[in-house]
Amino acid sequence: MEIAREAGALAKGYFDRRVPFELKGEFDLVTEADRNSEKLIVSRLRERLPSHDIVGEEGGGHLTGSEYRWYVDPVDGTTNFAHGFPVWAVSMGLERAGEMVAGVIYDPTRDEIFAAERGGGATLNGSPIRVSRAARLDDALVATGFPSRKRHANVNIHFYYELAMRTHGVRRAGAAAIDLAYVASGRLDAFWEFGLNSWDMAAGLLIVEEAGGAISDMRGGRATLDGPHLLTDNGVVHEEILALFAEIFSGKFVHSLPQLSR
Ligand code: IPD
Ligand code: CA
Ligand code: CA
Repeated sequence: MEIAREAGALAKGYFDRRVPFELKGEFDLVTEADRNSEKLIVSRLRERLPSHDIVGEEGGGHLTGSEYRWYVDPVDGTTNFAHGFPVWAVSMGLERAGEMVAGVIYDPTRDEIFAAERGGGATLNGSPIRVSRAARLDDALVATGFPSRKRHANVNIHFYYELAMRTHGVRRAGAAAIDLAYVASGRLDAFWEFGLNSWDMAAGLLIVEEAGGAISDMRGGRATLDGPHLLTDNGVVHEEILALFAEIFSGKFVHSLPQLSR
């Protein structure tokens, strides 16, 4: 938590000054803040836990075959970050022998720190959090995201549409780590995304699990860090969402453009 806070404060300095962005892919942004936040996290982890492995989104990792492995997203929500849209976070998850054991997501804009340790529950700024109690999709506020790579091959817009028709709304705030933290704290009832990376999910998966949520892939199978497709929710609406997803995959819903009405 200390390291995530320090990295978050560093990145916030850049955010407040509106740093320029560069492109890693056609729509895949990166800034100096992403690189320097990752450098800071990697160097702090190396000082304190020199035997641990690290996988960082910006390539600053360190791999030796240790049973401990950190997944670091130094700025999750870089597109937001680069545009001055204040929804982004630092995310760090620790895996031991293939199982997530600790996770932290720090949102510097709201000074909110979400954390979990396996078996110890999940917290927001030190107070315990739980997933929501929404029993049905009609009572749910849900969220999704769209990766910046291979957009043409992403089916999610069809899922977005169907969920938008059946829920209180679909949010697409642009930071998967925050979406996961919000499922864990009951601000969202569900979150799904096709094509996530390990560093987007690692911390959030454990935080959701420790807050009592359900996690699977889009067809109800086990979700893994190299997934890359993920559905998480409060556990109560999980079966209803999976049933709807199965119908969408089957091609049941094909809509023509509606007439515009005033
Ligand atoms: C992205 C964000 C976004 C999600 C993308 C991620 P980044 O992470 O979490 O919400 O839709 O799939 O890649 O690139 O900003 O760290
Ligand atoms: Ca990310
Ligand atoms: Ca990132």
